[in-house]
Amino acid sequence: MTFDHTPHPTPTSPERLQEILASPGFGTHFTDHTSVIDWTAEGGWGDARVEPYGPISLDPAAAVLHYAQEIFEGMKAYRHADGGIYTFRPLENARRLNRSAVRMALPELPEELFIESLEELVSTDKAWVPDGDGEALYLRPFMFASEAFLGVRPANAVSYRVIASPAGNYFGGELKPVRIWVSRDYIRAAPGGTGAAKTGGNYAGSLAAQQQATAKGCDQVLFLDPLRENAIEELGGMNVFLVTADNRLITPALTGTILEGITRASVIQLAKDRGMQVEERQVTLEEWDAGITDGSITEAFACGTAAVITPIGELLDGERRIASAGTGEVTLSIREELLGIQTGTGEDRHGWMHRLA
Ligand code: PLP
Ligand code: COI
Repeated sequence: MTFDHTPHPTPTSPERLQEILASPGFGTHFTDHTSVIDWTAEGGWGDARVEPYGPISLDPAAAVLHYAQEIFEGMKAYRHADGGIYTFRPLENARRLNRSAVRMALPELPEELFIESLEELVSTDKAWVPDGDGEALYLRPFMFASEAFLGVRPANAVSYRVIASPAGNYFGGELKPVRIWVSRDYIRAAPGGTGAAKTGGNYAGSLAAQQQATAKGCDQVLFLDPLRENAIEELGGMNVFLVTADNRLITPALTGTILEGITRASVIQLAKDRGMQVEERQVTLEEWDAGITDGSITEAFACGTAAVITPIGELLDGERRIASAGTGEVTLSIREELLGIQTGTGEDRHGWMHRLA
């Protein structure tokens, strides 16, 4: 599909980019443009374009505002030493977007259109891709029901867009272990629900738990499954791994209630490449707690596009503090290897990087 271009009159300057990266918060400043593709039940996908970033005009009855028919993705673009801008495993994001689309009764977007929408935006806003340590351009593709109606049914008009935001460390400043709040009052997902879809409602539903976490001085929430002996599920926006003293990795299996993280899949591959044993299975909070106490679980980390790989320093379960390990060696080493591939300093032996511009 050919993308129409409406250029923005004021592209960014290197000084402005540095100012934005130095300011606190994740996803607070956006590049000059957005990729857009619209869909109607009659005409399918069409009217692909790159237009200046700005507010969207929506009918107050637009279905997304009432029934949250919406999905999104999250990925990053990195500036490599060869001058190219690359992203990590974008076909996996395209496929996950389409799995989310099926679950939320939204139209699937052809994979090549998804990739093109990223290429068009990133080549237009190339000046916005930072190259500092831990910095990247965060890409946020999303799709929502734009049709105006109040009946509850899948919308016949949908809009797909990509916006982009220069990003440093998700938790701000230097890499440091995060504190995790164990959510006992709220769960994130249930069998047959939308937990495996990347849809806004999952995140809206996590906010009350995140408010509790913040009030307790924690960075993220750990969700449990009380129906499966308090099996650990995932954090509000990241998957979880435990590292054992005998060099195994343990992570919750994909049972349909957690997001199938692309970082998670990549960590599993990198660990197997090193000869580590990886166990994708049910793991309870009790097992984690006991493992910390008896020394059999030595490290824990969170992983995701925004968080990359972030060590988990401690858990707070009500008033009880469960100390984890701080920044462990295995965590750091896998983080370095993954970042090396993503930023182009390490060998990309699985062919994971895709040149966007
Ligand atoms: N789990 C949740 C709930 C997320 O929002 C994310 C972030 O995208 C992840 C896990 C990690 O997924 P990925 O590694 O594909 O970014
Ligand atoms: C991501 O890592 O891309 C996420 O979506 C996590 C969070 C910012 C929602």
